[in-house]
Amino acid sequence: MVADVSGEIAGHDGEVAHYPEWLRLEVDEYLSGLTFSQEPITDGLQEAMRYSLLAGGKRIRPVLALASARAIGADHTRMLPLAGAIELIHTYSLIHDDLPAMDDDELRRGRPTCHRVFGEDVAILAGDALYAEAFRHLLTAQEAPAELVLAAAAELALATGVNGMVGGQFLDVGRNGDHTPAAAVDLRRVHELKTGRLIGASVTCVLMLAGTPEPATIAFRRFAAELGVLFQIVDDILDVTGTDAALGKPSGSDERHGRHTYVSEFGIKRARELAAQSHAAARSALAQAADAGATGGPRPTELEQITDFIYTRRA
Ligand code: IPE
Ligand code: IPE
Ligand code: MG
Ligand code: MG
Ligand code: MG
Repeated sequence: MVADVSGEIAGHDGEVAHYPEWLRLEVDEYLSGLTFSQEPITDGLQEAMRYSLLAGGKRIRPVLALASARAIGADHTRMLPLAGAIELIHTYSLIHDDLPAMDDDELRRGRPTCHRVFGEDVAILAGDALYAEAFRHLLTAQEAPAELVLAAAAELALATGVNGMVGGQFLDVGRNGDHTPAAAVDLRRVHELKTGRLIGASVTCVLMLAGTPEPATIAFRRFAAELGVLFQIVDDILDVTGTDAALGKPSGSDERHGRHTYVSEFGIKRARELAAQSHAAARSALAQAADAGATGGPRPTELEQITDFIYTRRA
């Protein structure tokens, strides 16, 4: 059991850091223009997809992609198709994560979960469709040389498949059968896979599409990987310290399901220290990326803001 659940801020005692809200608004506007169904008979499926997609959400991953573009001096609006595809994938992962067979949660983004409104069958299909439509969107709407779009699509598939998000979810549900017991898998590794890889890809796919040469991207990759882990450590803390109203999703979900989290493993105090360490590591990698002139772009102000926001957020 967790001691000391006082305070709502994850690892930090101060204010919630400034978030580049203007980028979130651009993402929201772009997403609201996306439709999928080409004939009325599938409009009901599209309705379920758009219900979850347009329910709000912080849009951290697409905003991170746009901020990464700005940090390397690229026109961020040209990365909107990639950013949109990433948010479609993230939304699918939330719909499936909330299903009764998974986390069995009834609230998401401040609304009843997709399966509560549309039924489990349609919610499963809405998730499946969002995943396919994400790749269709990236492959058909993203402007960049074809080989770079293909490389980014491969990276996104890697980040979300067995060696990424879904593999991490598999470890998280703790049903590894006769294979390595899930408990023996390092918790940081679970977080790297289930959350870190998609957040990381939100940065690295932009570098790939922009054709940034590999050596110049090393510090950025380190930044992106650390940011993903930081995100999930804070998510674990907020699951204990947050309220349903503030989070827009049920708090205490991890404990109800006996999930292995930074809080269950280390206690709230140590989890906060580890979040602080992870935040410092992410900021340091970001500073190195900028110092190395990896980008030739301006100071990565929005990336700094997002890093601080992920650490200090309350939802
Ligand atoms: C929640 O992600 C799922 C995790 C990976 C922990 P977010 O906290 O980014 O959810 P939204 O998109 O803002 O709703
Ligand atoms: C889910 O992690 C990560 C995903 C890949 C969706 P959680 O189960 O902790 O996410 P929340 O807390 O329900 O948003
Ligand atoms: Mg889960
Ligand atoms: Mg969950
Ligand atoms: Mg959680």
